[in-house]
Amino acid sequence: MVDEKNLTPLTSMPNHLIRHVTLRQLQVFEAIYRLGSFTRGAEELFLTQPTVSMQIKKLTDVIGLPLFKHVGRSVEPTETGTELYATCREIFGTLTNLEMKIADLQGLKRGRLRLGVVTTAKYLAPEMLGEFSKRYPGLDLTLKVTNKERIFERMHTNKDDLYIMGHTSDSEIEVESHSFAPNPLVVMAPRDHPLVGVENISMEEIAKEPLIIREIGSGIRDATLRAFKAKGLTPNIRMELGSNDAIKHSVVGGLGISVLSLHSLTLEGADGPLAILDVEGFPILRNWYITYPKGKELSLVAQAFHSFAIDSEPEIHGRMQKMWPALTKYFKE
Ligand code: PGA
Repeated sequence: MVDEKNLTPLTSMPNHLIRHVTLRQLQVFEAIYRLGSFTRGAEELFLTQPTVSMQIKKLTDVIGLPLFKHVGRSVEPTETGTELYATCREIFGTLTNLEMKIADLQGLKRGRLRLGVVTTAKYLAPEMLGEFSKRYPGLDLTLKVTNKERIFERMHTNKDDLYIMGHTSDSEIEVESHSFAPNPLVVMAPRDHPLVGVENISMEEIAKEPLIIREIGSGIRDATLRAFKAKGLTPNIRMELGSNDAIKHSVVGGLGISVLSLHSLTLEGADGPLAILDVEGFPILRNWYITYPKGKELSLVAQAFHSFAIDSEPEIHGRMQKMWPALTKYFKE
């Protein structure tokens, strides 16, 4: 038990800063100080410039002295800023230590995480695992990538701790699922295709184009066929392929157009060899879900990854909005 007589009551501490400064403000301040720029600080934290300026204004008001001075186009810290930065480092260092101690206490130092993800989540899951393993470096990680149908089979036989999927309502078993990031499906064409740049292309027009489609069992295939069916149209399927990357190459090679997740363009970005067509009814708005069979007891590691995935939402969102500003309006807020 803690001996209360030896603890200083909070009320006897100087508490102006404790009451008014937030950790978020300190995080914003720390990033700007370290990077020497409001713009780069905002970028690192996936925040807008007005948001970081507002946080710094509030922090400055609480402290009562300027933290930065503007020198030409760059910012330089004041003496108060430099003092505050040293304090920030101490606070964040202490919190990081605490996080590691808690992880230790929770047994997250050496554990195992088996993650099963649908084919298209391979553009997202490895980066998430990378970030997660920075936090818990001693963990053993296994990633199984396969299509939606096979993932349901794996769930049946309890092969993995958690799953990342694009859609769960057609599952044969009851699942717990939480959406944690947008997964918009878009129509892709080679950059020199005549429909590139045309506005509001009709589905009738798209149905005439040769279409390259994912294999049976793929969630994207189901969503694509549903979009044509909703319009009473039959797509002109030229080829079926079990790999998003093979489809991308086929589209670049001029074999046809395709419907794929925006995530499949993460590495090449908006200026790569594939263009996105402006088609009515697109993007198809899907989300990524972190999922497990209902009633399954999650290990500590799985619980930690589950919370981590849900907490990653603003960052994944921020990354996508930055890469695809024209599609921002479609992302779920
Ligand atoms: P798939 O799943 O890669 O199996 O098509 C992705 C999704 O369901 O969106």
